[in-house]
Amino acid sequence: MAKVVVYTCLTIAFVLFLACYPNKRHYGNEFAVISRRLGYNLALQTFDPLVSEMKRVVEDNKSSNHQTDLEKDARNIEVEDDYEYFSSKQGKLNITLRLLYLFPLIDNGPKDGVVGVKELEDWNIEQAIDRLNYKTEKEIDLHDKNEDRAISFEEYLSQFSKEDIEKNGTRHGEAGWWKEQFMNADVDGNGVLNFDEFNNLLHPEDSNIDAIRKSLLGEKMEEMDDDGDGKLDFEEFVKTVYDTYKTYVELEVNRTNIPTSEEKFAELDVNKDK
Ligand SMILES: *[C@@H]1O[C@H](CO)[C@@H](O)[C@H](O)[C@H]1NC(C)=O
Ligand SMILES: *[C@@H]1O[C@H](CO)[C@@H](O)[C@H](O)[C@H]1NC(C)=O
Ligand SMILES: *[C@@H]1O[C@H](CO)[C@@H](O)[C@H](O)[C@H]1NC(C)=O
Ligand SMILES: *[C@@H]1O[C@H](CO)[C@@H](O)[C@H](O)[C@H]1NC(C)=O
Repeated sequence: MAKVVVYTCLTIAFVLFLACYPNKRHYGNEFAVISRRLGYNLALQTFDPLVSEMKRVVEDNKSSNHQTDLEKDARNIEVEDDYEYFSSKQGKLNITLRLLYLFPLIDNGPKDGVVGVKELEDWNIEQAIDRLNYKTEKEIDLHDKNEDRAISFEEYLSQFSKEDIEKNGTRHGEAGWWKEQFMNADVDGNGVLNFDEFNNLLHPEDSNIDAIRKSLLGEKMEEMDDDGDGKLDFEEFVKTVYDTYKTYVELEVNRTNIPTSEEKFAELDVNKDK
């Protein structure tokens, strides 16, 4: 009995694993179009946190400035030991062994010996958040000159000369543009970005700060608005947004009766000025 359950779990887990593992080229193309961000084709993220951590250790190992950080070195050794423990003699990660370990961690709500879509989704979101936080940590390490774990405009944008900053150019990527992004992210307005604020500056697509979302939307509109009248007419809508919307609904919501471009436009065009 117990054996049957274990084998069933393993089979399910293995199928999920294959479906989610990024280095399977055969599956990669098919899944690459599934993205939570409208209009973006993102590479799949790593499914197994041990693989992510090992990548970080290897990256860390390449840069030489980590000798001073004993805590981090200890952590890296721990990761290497884990990786070795879960690997075959040839140094290849034993996927069966990893799944035996990961399955109970994913099978969380409820713990019933089966991994459902929601559990898998939660797991992937958890991995994604971890990845973003890690990136932000690294960027703070890189820019935080005075080591107060907060980032001032000058710290983050030391690549700009005094002249650039005085010129205050507001086109995408210029000093004035960055200053605006910085101020949008600086929610408490104290002139420096703490971890969460900096996270929002670096990953505006994932931010829920109004000013950031509006600014992002404004730029997207500008890109799509061919005749520059500040509005999307039906033609511009079909050309730029509709296909993305359709793909999103098909893949994420799995609906078959998707509105046509005319129907969707009519629904969104609240004041009916087309
Ligand atoms: C770290 O670097 C050393 C020396 O270059 C190398 O021998 C070792 O295999 C590396 N370890 C990892 C995990 O990349
Ligand atoms: C992987 O782990 C499983 C479960 O412990 C074991 O039966 C199998 O022999 C291992 N495979 C390799 C290639 O080490
Ligand atoms: C740069 O321009 C923005 C608006 O475009 C303005 O709010 C800001 O005060 C200007 N900064 C400087 C240093 O001139
Ligand atoms: C989408 O829904 C249909 C029926 O409603 C179902 O047969 C199909 O397996 C679903 N596809 C996905 C990817 O969930």
